[in-house]
Amino acid sequence: KPTIFLCAFFIMGDCWLNCNLYVLCSSVKLWASAFGGEIKSISAKYSGSQLLQKVVKYKEFEKSVRVEEIDGLKLVKNLAVKMEEVFRKKAEATRRLVEAAEEAHHQHEENPDLQYEYFNAVLINEVDEMGNNVELGGEFLLEPNDHFNNLSVNLSLSVVQVPTNMYNKDPDIVNGVYWSEALNKVFVDNFERDPTLIWQYFGSAKGFFRQYPGVKWHPDEHGVIGFDCRNRKWYIQAATSPKDVVILVDVSGSMKGLRLTIARQTVSSILDTLGDDDFFNVIAYNQEIHYVEPCLNGTLVRADRTNKDHFREHLDKLFAKGIGLLGEALAEAFTILNDFNQTGRGSVCSQAIMLVTDGATEMYDDVFEKYNWPERKVTLFLSLFLFSST
Ligand SMILES: *[C@@H]1O[C@H](CO)[C@@H](O)[C@H](O)[C@H]1NC(C)=O
Ligand SMILES: *[C@@H]1O[C@H](CO)[C@@H](O)[C@H](O)[C@H]1NC(C)=O
Ligand SMILES: *[C@@H]1O[C@H](CO)[C@@H](O)[C@H](O)[C@H]1NC(C)=O
Ligand SMILES: *[C@@H]1O[C@H](CO)[C@@H](O)[C@H](O)[C@H]1NC(C)=O
Repeated sequence: KPTIFLCAFFIMGDCWLNCNLYVLCSSVKLWASAFGGEIKSISAKYSGSQLLQKVVKYKEFEKSVRVEEIDGLKLVKNLAVKMEEVFRKKAEATRRLVEAAEEAHHQHEENPDLQYEYFNAVLINEVDEMGNNVELGGEFLLEPNDHFNNLSVNLSLSVVQVPTNMYNKDPDIVNGVYWSEALNKVFVDNFERDPTLIWQYFGSAKGFFRQYPGVKWHPDEHGVIGFDCRNRKWYIQAATSPKDVVILVDVSGSMKGLRLTIARQTVSSILDTLGDDDFFNVIAYNQEIHYVEPCLNGTLVRADRTNKDHFREHLDKLFAKGIGLLGEALAEAFTILNDFNQTGRGSVCSQAIMLVTDGATEMYDDVFEKYNWPERKVTLFLSLFLFSST
């Protein structure tokens, strides 16, 4: 039985300088066998009746046997409808998680001194020499469940795993774990609505990993847990799922010389990360906006090798002058992302604006409010590539 991961990827931050990458996933297994069964029984029926026609003297059985014609198109349509239904349900579960995560994250105020006891997947139910629960451990009720390969799980709570090489009380981690507690009730609710779901995950770019249902993790013989969600295939695939990307390059006077060289290299390396399924454009801005390739203004192009090379050549023609006014460039970026989405091409749900500058001093809350909040159609997909001034 193959396991399918449905993942949503989002970048979020209250402040551009402090953006976090999150990936939410649900794993799904049962649908595959359900469909497999259906296809098999239909094909057995179909070929069986054909066989009957050929081998047995059909006429003799004519009265007792009826050969039923199967409408292939209808069959495929039915399957497609069912498949769509299954995927829609899973995608909905993931979307509910994304919404809850956005909301909780939005409500949360980072607090570097935050103290918070969470259930650490490795430390739960561990006791010290005195028989007391260890810190971040605590009593965690587990019961074997055959939906989860007879593993002992807790269906009301998730657990958090932190890679061995990271400090499990790091303020970034404690804050992330704290606000993502809000996901517990969505995990439970998703599972109640759709019992074919298996594991539900939340992976943070800071490295912590929340897993539902709660389960105890055991270190290997060296006492190490090498698992880092950021190295998992589902995380990488989701984080690199098809994207529409607009890259904004600051070409104001302060970007003269080496900085412009670094900016070009940065754009070039962002382009390296894009693949054939992604769409992009590059806009340079000072007090005006300049499409790096003026013939391709107002749209996005496929990030294939030819287009990327073509844009790289144009990057060499950039020069720095004037003052950098980001507002208009951002508005343009939002507009073309939105227009492009209307065309039905591109990724529909994963859009990003990448900003290459030597410093973002202004906040453009009004632009974000207009294009983003409060409807929140576009999750804040903003990555800031900031490089040092030397
Ligand atoms: C999950 O663990 C918590 C803490 O031990 C416990 O209160 C709760 O009853 C458990 N839930 C289930 C469904 O076992
Ligand atoms: C789980 O355990 C039960 C009884 O112990 C057994 O019948 C069942 O086949 C097991 N399921 C799996 C998935 O191992
Ligand atoms: C985009 O192209 C149109 C027509 O080709 C032109 O009128 C417009 O000024 C261009 N916009 C920018 C920002 O270059
Ligand atoms: C793109 O368009 C679809 C359908 O109109 C809409 O559901 C979706 O929210 C849009 N995506 C973004 C990022 O605006």
